[in-house]
Amino acid sequence: MAVSIKSAREIELMREAGRLLAEVHEELGKAIKPGISTMDIDVIGEKLIRERDCVPNFLHYNGYPASICVSVNDEVVHGIPSKKRILKEGDIVSLDAGLIYKGYHSDAARTHGVGQISPQAQKLIDVTKQSFFEGIKYAVAGKHLYDISNAIDAYVTPFGYSIVRDLVGHGIGTKLHEDPQIPNFAQRRKGIQLQAGMTLAIEPMINIGRSDVEWLADDWTVVTEDGTLSAHYENTILITDGEPEILTMF
Ligand code: MF3
Ligand code: CO
Repeated sequence: MAVSIKSAREIELMREAGRLLAEVHEELGKAIKPGISTMDIDVIGEKLIRERDCVPNFLHYNGYPASICVSVNDEVVHGIPSKKRILKEGDIVSLDAGLIYKGYHSDAARTHGVGQISPQAQKLIDVTKQSFFEGIKYAVAGKHLYDISNAIDAYVTPFGYSIVRDLVGHGIGTKLHEDPQIPNFAQRRKGIQLQAGMTLAIEPMINIGRSDVEWLADDWTVVTEDGTLSAHYENTILITDGEPEILTMF
Protein backbone atom coordinates (compact mmCIF):
# COMPACT_ATOMS: atom_id res chain seq x y z
CA MET A 1 0.00 0.00 0.00
CA ALA A 2 1.52 3.27 -1.12
CA VAL A 3 0.07 6.35 0.52
CA SER A 4 1.05 9.50 -1.34
CA ILE A 5 2.56 12.47 0.47
CA LYS A 6 1.59 15.71 -1.21
CA SER A 7 4.19 18.38 -1.98
CA ALA A 8 3.68 22.02 -0.99
CA ARG A 9 2.43 22.75 -4.52
CA GLU A 10 -0.01 19.85 -4.43
CA ILE A 11 -1.29 20.90 -1.01
CA GLU A 12 -2.10 24.35 -2.42
CA LEU A 13 -4.14 22.72 -5.20
CA MET A 14 -5.89 20.38 -2.74
CA ARG A 15 -6.74 23.42 -0.58
CA GLU A 16 -8.35 25.16 -3.52
CA ALA A 17 -10.21 22.00 -4.59
CA GLY A 18 -11.49 21.73 -1.04
CA ARG A 19 -12.47 25.38 -0.67
CA LEU A 20 -14.41 25.33 -3.93
CA LEU A 21 -16.26 22.18 -2.82
CA ALA A 22 -17.12 23.85 0.51
CA GLU A 23 -18.75 26.64 -1.52
CA VAL A 24 -20.66 24.10 -3.60
CA HIS A 25 -22.00 22.37 -0.46
CA GLU A 26 -22.98 25.70 1.10
CA GLU A 27 -25.04 26.64 -1.97
CA LEU A 28 -26.45 23.15 -2.43
CA GLY A 29 -27.63 23.04 1.19
CA LYS A 30 -29.74 26.15 0.55
CA ALA A 31 -31.58 24.36 -2.26
CA ILE A 32 -32.93 21.63 0.02
CA LYS A 33 -36.64 22.07 0.58
CA PRO A 34 -39.83 20.03 0.32
CA GLY A 35 -40.96 19.58 -3.30
CA ILE A 36 -37.52 19.54 -4.94
CA SER A 37 -36.51 16.35 -6.78
CA THR A 38 -33.22 14.58 -6.22
CA MET A 39 -32.48 15.23 -9.92
CA ASP A 40 -32.96 18.99 -9.34
CA ILE A 41 -30.21 18.75 -6.71
CA ASP A 42 -27.89 17.02 -9.16
CA VAL A 43 -28.53 19.65 -11.84
CA ILE A 44 -27.84 22.50 -9.40
CA GLY A 45 -24.75 20.74 -8.02
CA GLU A 46 -23.22 20.07 -11.43
CA LYS A 47 -23.78 23.71 -12.40
CA LEU A 48 -22.14 24.95 -9.17
CA ILE A 49 -19.11 22.75 -9.86
CA ARG A 50 -18.74 23.72 -13.53
CA GLU A 51 -19.24 27.44 -12.78
CA ARG A 52 -16.04 27.16 -10.75
CA ASP A 53 -14.18 25.72 -13.76
CA CYS A 54 -14.04 22.35 -12.04
CA VAL A 55 -15.16 18.90 -13.16
CA PRO A 56 -17.54 16.68 -11.16
CA ASN A 57 -15.42 13.64 -10.26
CA PHE A 58 -18.36 11.32 -9.53
CA LEU A 59 -19.87 11.68 -13.03
CA HIS A 60 -19.11 8.47 -14.96
CA TYR A 61 -16.90 7.17 -12.12
CA ASN A 62 -17.19 3.38 -12.61
CA GLY A 63 -20.31 4.20 -14.61
CA TYR A 64 -22.03 6.36 -11.94
CA PRO A 65 -24.54 8.41 -13.96
CA ALA A 66 -24.64 11.74 -12.04
CA SER A 67 -22.50 14.41 -10.38
CA ILE A 68 -23.99 14.29 -6.88
CA CYS A 69 -25.00 11.27 -4.79
CA VAL A 70 -28.38 12.03 -3.20
CA SER A 71 -29.42 9.48 -0.57
CA VAL A 72 -32.77 9.83 1.21
CA ASN A 73 -33.74 8.34 4.62
CA ASP A 74 -32.78 4.63 4.64
CA GLU A 75 -30.47 5.19 1.66
CA VAL A 76 -26.94 5.22 3.05
CA VAL A 77 -24.89 6.50 0.10
CA HIS A 78 -24.68 6.55 -3.72
CA GLY A 79 -28.37 7.32 -4.27
CA ILE A 80 -28.89 8.07 -7.97
CA PRO A 81 -30.72 11.36 -8.62
CA SER A 82 -34.19 10.94 -10.15
CA LYS A 83 -36.89 13.33 -11.38
CA LYS A 84 -39.42 11.10 -9.69
CA ARG A 85 -37.91 11.20 -6.22
CA ILE A 86 -39.38 14.28 -4.55
CA LEU A 87 -38.14 15.37 -1.13
CA LYS A 88 -40.84 15.84 1.47
CA GLU A 89 -41.01 17.47 4.88
CA GLY A 90 -39.42 15.23 7.51
CA ASP A 91 -37.01 13.42 5.15
CA ILE A 92 -33.29 13.44 5.72
CA VAL A 93 -31.04 13.66 2.68
CA SER A 94 -27.33 13.01 2.35
CA LEU A 95 -25.54 14.94 -0.38
CA ASP A 96 -22.17 13.58 -1.39
CA ALA A 97 -20.24 15.73 -3.85
CA GLY A 98 -16.76 15.96 -5.25
CA LEU A 99 -14.80 17.90 -7.85
CA ILE A 100 -11.51 18.07 -9.68
CA TYR A 101 -9.54 21.33 -9.67
CA LYS A 102 -6.39 21.38 -11.83
CA GLY A 103 -6.08 17.61 -11.52
CA TYR A 104 -6.73 17.42 -7.76
CA HIS A 105 -9.82 15.87 -6.18
CA SER A 106 -11.94 16.88 -3.22
CA ASP A 107 -14.80 14.87 -1.68
CA ALA A 108 -17.32 15.81 1.03
CA ALA A 109 -20.78 14.87 2.25
CA ARG A 110 -23.44 16.54 4.39
CA THR A 111 -26.77 15.24 5.67
CA HIS A 112 -29.61 17.76 5.75
CA GLY A 113 -33.10 17.68 7.20
CA VAL A 114 -35.93 18.58 4.81
CA GLY A 115 -38.14 21.15 6.59
CA GLN A 116 -39.05 20.02 10.11
CA ILE A 117 -37.56 16.65 11.01
CA SER A 118 -38.02 14.40 14.04
CA PRO A 119 -35.73 14.82 17.07
CA GLN A 120 -34.54 11.23 16.43
CA ALA A 121 -33.48 12.09 12.88
CA GLN A 122 -31.78 15.30 14.01
CA LYS A 123 -29.85 13.43 16.68
CA LEU A 124 -28.61 10.89 14.12
CA ILE A 125 -27.39 13.73 11.88
CA ASP A 126 -25.67 15.48 14.79
CA VAL A 127 -23.97 12.34 16.14
CA THR A 128 -22.76 11.38 12.65
CA LYS A 129 -21.23 14.82 12.14
CA GLN A 130 -19.64 14.86 15.60
CA SER A 131 -18.18 11.39 15.03
CA PHE A 132 -16.10 12.86 12.20
CA PHE A 133 -14.73 15.50 14.58
CA GLU A 134 -14.02 12.89 17.26
CA GLY A 135 -12.16 10.80 14.68
CA ILE A 136 -9.98 13.58 13.36
CA LYS A 137 -8.71 14.41 16.85
CA TYR A 138 -6.34 11.52 16.04
CA ALA A 139 -5.60 12.61 12.48
CA VAL A 140 -2.16 13.92 13.40
CA ALA A 141 1.31 12.99 12.12
CA GLY A 142 2.78 10.23 14.30
CA LYS A 143 -0.58 8.70 15.24
CA HIS A 144 -1.90 5.61 13.49
CA LEU A 145 -4.64 5.38 10.91
CA TYR A 146 -6.92 3.19 12.98
CA ASP A 147 -6.76 5.59 15.93
CA ILE A 148 -9.24 7.56 13.79
CA SER A 149 -11.46 4.48 13.25
CA ASN A 150 -11.37 3.59 16.93
CA ALA A 151 -12.31 7.11 18.03
CA ILE A 152 -15.31 7.21 15.67
CA ASP A 153 -16.51 3.83 16.97
CA ALA A 154 -16.00 4.77 20.63
CA TYR A 155 -18.09 7.91 20.15
CA VAL A 156 -20.93 6.41 18.10
CA THR A 157 -21.52 3.03 19.72
CA PRO A 158 -22.79 4.32 23.12
CA PHE A 159 -25.69 6.05 21.31
CA GLY A 160 -26.94 2.60 20.25
CA TYR A 161 -26.36 3.44 16.59
CA SER A 162 -24.38 1.22 14.28
CA ILE A 163 -21.56 1.96 11.90
CA VAL A 164 -21.67 0.86 8.28
CA ARG A 165 -18.87 -1.66 7.73
CA ASP A 166 -19.10 -2.30 3.98
CA LEU A 167 -17.97 1.19 2.96
CA VAL A 168 -14.93 3.13 4.14
CA GLY A 169 -13.08 6.43 3.85
CA HIS A 170 -10.00 6.73 1.65
CA GLY A 171 -6.91 8.58 0.61
CA ILE A 172 -7.52 11.25 -2.05
CA GLY A 173 -5.39 13.37 -4.38
CA THR A 174 -4.83 12.97 -8.11
CA LYS A 175 -7.43 10.21 -7.87
CA LEU A 176 -10.76 10.19 -6.01
CA HIS A 177 -9.91 6.97 -4.22
CA GLU A 178 -6.31 6.43 -3.19
CA ASP A 179 -4.79 4.26 -0.47
CA PRO A 180 -5.35 3.82 2.40
CA GLN A 181 -8.86 2.55 3.09
CA ILE A 182 -10.21 4.04 6.32
CA PRO A 183 -12.81 2.00 8.21
CA ASN A 184 -15.15 3.85 10.57
CA PHE A 185 -15.35 1.01 13.09
CA ALA A 186 -12.83 -0.22 15.66
CA GLN A 187 -9.83 -2.20 14.44
CA ARG A 188 -7.53 -4.57 16.28
CA ARG A 189 -4.49 -3.40 14.31
CA LYS A 190 -2.91 0.05 14.43
CA GLY A 191 -2.77 0.77 10.72
CA ILE A 192 -0.14 2.89 9.01
CA GLN A 193 1.53 5.76 10.80
CA LEU A 194 0.14 9.10 9.67
CA GLN A 195 2.50 11.59 8.05
CA ALA A 196 2.23 15.29 7.28
CA GLY A 197 1.15 15.77 3.66
CA MET A 198 -1.29 12.86 3.52
CA THR A 199 -4.75 13.87 2.32
CA LEU A 200 -7.65 11.70 3.47
CA ALA A 201 -11.42 11.60 3.06
CA ILE A 202 -12.94 10.61 6.41
CA GLU A 203 -16.59 9.66 6.02
CA PRO A 204 -18.60 7.96 8.76
CA MET A 205 -21.92 6.43 7.66
CA ILE A 206 -24.13 5.75 10.68
CA ASN A 207 -27.44 3.86 10.95
CA ILE A 208 -30.09 4.19 13.65
CA GLY A 209 -30.68 0.44 13.46
CA ARG A 210 -28.44 -2.42 12.43
CA SER A 211 -25.21 -2.02 10.49
CA ASP A 212 -26.18 -4.32 7.60
CA VAL A 213 -26.64 -2.71 4.21
CA GLU A 214 -27.73 -3.95 0.81
CA TRP A 215 -27.52 -2.71 -2.75
CA LEU A 216 -30.63 -1.88 -4.79
CA ALA A 217 -31.15 -3.31 -8.28
CA ASP A 218 -29.43 -0.22 -9.81
CA ASP A 219 -26.24 -1.65 -8.21
CA TRP A 220 -25.38 1.77 -6.75
CA THR A 221 -27.89 2.79 -4.12
CA VAL A 222 -26.86 1.40 -0.73
CA VAL A 223 -29.76 1.06 1.75
CA THR A 224 -30.03 -0.19 5.32
CA GLU A 225 -31.29 -3.75 5.35
CA ASP A 226 -33.68 -3.03 8.22
CA GLY A 227 -35.04 0.15 6.61
CA THR A 228 -33.85 2.47 9.40
CA LEU A 229 -32.46 5.96 8.77
CA SER A 230 -28.82 6.48 7.86
CA ALA A 231 -26.65 9.62 7.87
CA HIS A 232 -23.31 10.46 6.24
CA TYR A 233 -20.75 13.18 6.94
CA GLU A 234 -17.46 13.57 5.12
CA ASN A 235 -14.60 15.99 4.64
CA THR A 236 -11.27 15.89 2.84
CA ILE A 237 -8.52 16.65 5.36
CA LEU A 238 -4.78 17.31 5.32
CA ILE A 239 -2.53 15.65 7.91
CA THR A 240 -0.05 18.08 9.48
CA ASP A 241 2.28 17.94 12.47
CA GLY A 242 -0.45 19.66 14.47
CA GLU A 243 -4.21 19.79 14.03
CA PRO A 244 -5.51 18.46 10.74
CA GLU A 245 -6.62 21.01 8.17
CA ILE A 246 -10.20 20.41 7.04
CA LEU A 247 -9.96 21.30 3.36
CA THR A 248 -13.67 21.09 2.49
CA MET A 249 -14.92 23.40 5.24
CA PHE A 250 -14.58 27.18 5.71
N1 MF3 B 1 -17.77 10.06 -1.87
C1 MF3 B 1 -18.02 8.82 -2.49
C2 MF3 B 1 -17.04 7.79 -2.04
O1 MF3 B 1 -16.00 8.13 -1.56
C3 MF3 B 1 -17.90 8.92 -3.96
C4 MF3 B 1 -18.92 8.18 -4.64
S1 MF3 B 1 -18.36 7.71 -6.17
C5 MF3 B 1 -19.73 7.66 -7.11
O2 MF3 B 1 -17.31 6.61 -2.13
F1 MF3 B 1 -19.39 7.09 -8.16
F2 MF3 B 1 -20.71 7.05 -6.49
F3 MF3 B 1 -20.11 8.85 -7.34
CO1 CO C 1 -15.43 9.61 -0.21
